[in-house]
Amino acid sequence: MRDGLLDEFVERVRAESDLLTVVSSYVSMKRKGNRYWGCCPFHHENTPSFSVVPDQGFFYCFGCHAGGNVFKFISLIENVSYFEAVKIQAEKLNIPMPQRKKSEVEIIKDQKIADLQKIHEMAGDFFYNCLMKTSYGIPAKEYLFSRGIHEDIISEFRLGYAPDAWDKLSMAFLKRGIKQEFLVESGLAAQRRNSQGAYDRFRNRVMIPIADERGHVVGFGGRVLGEGQPKYLNSPETVIFNKRRLLFGLDRSHQAIRQAGYAIVVEGYMDAISVYSAGVRNVVASLGTAFTSEQCKKLLRYAPEIYFSYDSDEAGQNATLRALSVVRETGAIVKVLVVPDGKDPDEFIRRHGVDAFRALVKAALPLMEYRMQYVLKHVEHSSLEGKVKALNALLPVLAELRNAVEIHAYVVRIAQVLGIDEGAVRSEMRRFSQHGSSAGEPMRASIRQVVRQKDDAVRRAGRIIIKAAWQDTDVLMHLKSVVPIEQFPNKLHVEILRFLEKQEMCGVLPDDITAAEELSEEAASELSRALVEDSDGQEVTEAYEDSVTSLRKVYLQKLFDEHSQKADELSRGGDSGYKQELAESQRIKDEMDAL
Ligand code: CTP
Ligand code: MN
Repeated sequence: MRDGLLDEFVERVRAESDLLTVVSSYVSMKRKGNRYWGCCPFHHENTPSFSVVPDQGFFYCFGCHAGGNVFKFISLIENVSYFEAVKIQAEKLNIPMPQRKKSEVEIIKDQKIADLQKIHEMAGDFFYNCLMKTSYGIPAKEYLFSRGIHEDIISEFRLGYAPDAWDKLSMAFLKRGIKQEFLVESGLAAQRRNSQGAYDRFRNRVMIPIADERGHVVGFGGRVLGEGQPKYLNSPETVIFNKRRLLFGLDRSHQAIRQAGYAIVVEGYMDAISVYSAGVRNVVASLGTAFTSEQCKKLLRYAPEIYFSYDSDEAGQNATLRALSVVRETGAIVKVLVVPDGKDPDEFIRRHGVDAFRALVKAALPLMEYRMQYVLKHVEHSSLEGKVKALNALLPVLAELRNAVEIHAYVVRIAQVLGIDEGAVRSEMRRFSQHGSSAGEPMRASIRQVVRQKDDAVRRAGRIIIKAAWQDTDVLMHLKSVVPIEQFPNKLHVEILRFLEKQEMCGVLPDDITAAEELSEEAASELSRALVEDSDGQEVTEAYEDSVTSLRKVYLQKLFDEHSQKADELSRGGDSGYKQELAESQRIKDEMDAL
């Protein structure tokens, strides 16, 4: 349910906010024509591709595609939710926030989250004090010291110790009035099987607090002191602890990731702690599970590149390959940091120092290079069979490359190292691409490039139309008579136009607040881009007409294909209805030719 008072509040804050002023307090912006440009604060760049058009109230980065209104900007740069951004801005402008009534369910859920955060906060303190202030914490401290982790790092990461007892934490917390069911629900304790009561989940372990992006402790990883199984015991999943989404260390490292333009992803907590403490701060650890697409998307909000630095043992290499395939689909740029002699980053830094680690970062390999080295090392490639196997392992990554020069260079190298003909590599690559694309696998790079350029032009036309419709929703009537909204080739555009249509039907002008509320993240970004983008000096109306025409062509082409195909099917089946289909496709063809 929408809350009228709250809407009014958000609108007032929005009306009194000036996007350019807000942006300028973080980024230095220079005016050019009716827009302002600066270096994007959301990814690393040296030439400005971040733009604001003050009248529109939108920003958009042509480099990393971040875009939206003033609240979106604040939420990205301050790393807060959209609504928290509204509150921050309201405070700055001295606009009091109305007290909103929450639904019963919301109240209960918020309370649960707050309680879980609180109990984890308390547990963090409890473990920390056990480590630092009690005599039974001494062996744990010694263990950490032996790994080169001293007091400064312990307090920076608020590491702790869970005592070697069944219910130290449970007893302490029960005494402080926490209910036993809640202790169990939080994952800090477990229910006894055969009797009443609960026992501590974590016992005799070094405790590593895991925080969300905002720095709230949401779970723990507990390591045995020395040898023992399981080596790590983690908190179970709760409403606040979702392993697929969380990245250990992101609360500390997100600024550094943004500044560096890339994130380093390691496998272990200890790796992240070591790398960070050694001064390389743009590091996170995936939580012992496979790297997920959620984690990938989260990192891409801060930087377009991801460097994987997994263990160099067999398991680590396999994990790297799996992570790489997750990332490839999101369009992130990937590099692989190869740590020599089977070491993990933590061991490597302790042995060789941080400068040597920085050198590894610098020497991180592009995906194709990494794949080549891996395959050549692991696949026997002297026999004919081996060569075929090695080549097959390389083709998927090779077919993903976009740059013709790069492809050529790799083809030459692969031919050389495998001792086969360049032509053979090319024809295998072609075969893979053709076979691959029919099976829904990646298309060949060169074909893809052509398709992509065409897509770009069509998508741009769509954005020009959106801009025109945003400025004057009457445009929609005309538009719908020429190209039905559902027929727009880009589904984000369909989403935006449907939204505009809805606003128009309700008789209200579209505005950035409702857009941010109702559109998906991607659609909102696309809308910002449409509004901020220049129409190459053309007037909006003129650009609109050209764009509608070109989209009409795309639409007609699709209709033509459908009718021709239908005609073909019918005539094969001896159905005379094909004549009608043929006539229809001819009519469409005539219109296309006349456009
Ligand atoms: N992990 C886990 N549960 C285990 C083992 C591992 O959750 N039983 C996760 C932890 O997040 C750990 C990561 O997987 O940090 C990597 O495991 P591993 O390489 O075995 O440990 P290291 O990070 O090298 O740990 P250490 O240096 O403390 O031995
Ligand atoms: Mn390790």
